[in-house]
Amino acid sequence: MSASSTPASAAPTATRRRYAIVGLGSRHELYQDGIEKVHRDHGELVGLCDVNLGRVEVARQRSAKNGAPVPPGYAAADFVRMLAETKPDVVIVTTADAAHHDYLIRAMEAGCDVITEKPMTTDAEKCRQILDTRRRTGRKCRVTFNYRYSPPRSQVKDLLMSGEIGDVLSVDFHWLLNTHHGADYFRRWHSQKKNSGGLLVHKSTHHFDLVNWWLGAMPVSVMATGKREFYTPATARRMGLTGPHERCRTCPEKARCGFYLDLAASPTLKQLYLDQEQFDGYFRDRCVFRDEIDIEDTMNVMVGYDTGATLSYSLNTFNAWEGYTVAFNGTKGRIEHTIVESVYVNGTETVQGGIADGGVTTRVIPLRGEPRNVVPWSAVGDHGGGDRLMLEDIFLPNPTADKYLRAADERAGACSIMVGVAANRGLQTGAVVKVADLLPGLVRPDYAPMPTRTDPLPMPGR
Ligand SMILES: NC(=O)c1ccc[n+]([C@@H]2O[C@H](COP(=O)([O-])OP(=O)(O)OC[C@H]3O[C@@H](n4cnc5c(N)ncnc54)[C@H](O)[C@@H]3O)[C@@H](O)[C@H]2O)c1
Repeated sequence: MSASSTPASAAPTATRRRYAIVGLGSRHELYQDGIEKVHRDHGELVGLCDVNLGRVEVARQRSAKNGAPVPPGYAAADFVRMLAETKPDVVIVTTADAAHHDYLIRAMEAGCDVITEKPMTTDAEKCRQILDTRRRTGRKCRVTFNYRYSPPRSQVKDLLMSGEIGDVLSVDFHWLLNTHHGADYFRRWHSQKKNSGGLLVHKSTHHFDLVNWWLGAMPVSVMATGKREFYTPATARRMGLTGPHERCRTCPEKARCGFYLDLAASPTLKQLYLDQEQFDGYFRDRCVFRDEIDIEDTMNVMVGYDTGATLSYSLNTFNAWEGYTVAFNGTKGRIEHTIVESVYVNGTETVQGGIADGGVTTRVIPLRGEPRNVVPWSAVGDHGGGDRLMLEDIFLPNPTADKYLRAADERAGACSIMVGVAANRGLQTGAVVKVADLLPGLVRPDYAPMPTRTDPLPMPGR
């Protein structure tokens, strides 16, 4: 499918970059609106592509609503034709995870820079192909780790950079998803490892990137355990259902199920998914208890870094609240940081389950002396204000220099997914997995200088 553009409503300037987007589900909207509304002076959207032609059309209508020129739409099979006809400078990849590498590689081969949603990809071989292509073509590859831009997490980076707690020797990091947001991963393509790499890649890529970046360290070795024990047919039966069924829409027990999702009740979910099922059979409301799910719902991972630091991490997807606690144990003290997050189902404008109280707390506790509570940095918007800041970093022609180095490239994308890929391998073998055995020659990201532990340490008082 292809349709010609309508006349531009904003005059092109020399600095306006041409963008194409492939993968037109809920996440792509951030980038489409970023280009067509907030940053319209700096860029224009010239092509839209998806495997589902219904969602291509919805995205084109979105351009019209944004008051922007309506870009031509293309089927996934016509991706290369889109590049040839629309000549984007940059291709933004927001497809399901396992397809990222294919578009990144073909776009870079065609001379485009690329921006990809996390995770950069889902396994070591695809990662190697992306890194090789980037090196060979010399194009830029950016990975949008929006979590880094969340003000309280940037503040943790600032505290660690200040040296107040000295060298970080270990980290305890526990991430909780509740049964609104957590369950959502079990409804859709994420619920199968071949699409998402499982949550240790799909979701934990955010968390492993945060630790890599916070510590300025390279992951070296990984041990993992994981299981699926909540989102199972047995749990459905223990909750009094006769069993898992295919999907919520046709479920004979929908009235009794606390995990029922009504696609038709949300205008966004209806337009984006329910109304487009006819094109590809993608059901956004599959039963969270069905048998063919093959991802874990409970995961524990230990990581060793080249600085000597260690990480003890867990991800739990059926919790009573949503958010995380992280603690950094340093040679001069400890930082404890907790965020209780709002809960939502991706793709809706609504917040389900109310906004939990608790908010953000950050505390610095020296080895001796009084702890101090830190007033958290804050901002307004999605992902704690992080998404807006990230878009400025992406779309402004001359973003201000960032001492936290939050703009991530393929090196950071690789370092974060390889922790999850190694954890997946560890789940199969039970062994400690060396990242270098799966993907030799990872290049150090900009945030990770060669490690040293040689600065003099003050002797603590008694
Ligand atoms: N950074 C974040 O906080 C964040 C939040 C949500 C999603 N994401 C990422 O964004 C990406 C998209 O997620 P989403 O929630 O929008 O999913 P989605 O299911 O809503 O949308 C995915 C889109 O990709 C299309 N697609 C799938 N396979 C394709 C292929 N081979 N070729 C072309 N199009 C294809 C689908 O038709 C769909 O339109 C994922 O990589 C996800 O990890 C990131």
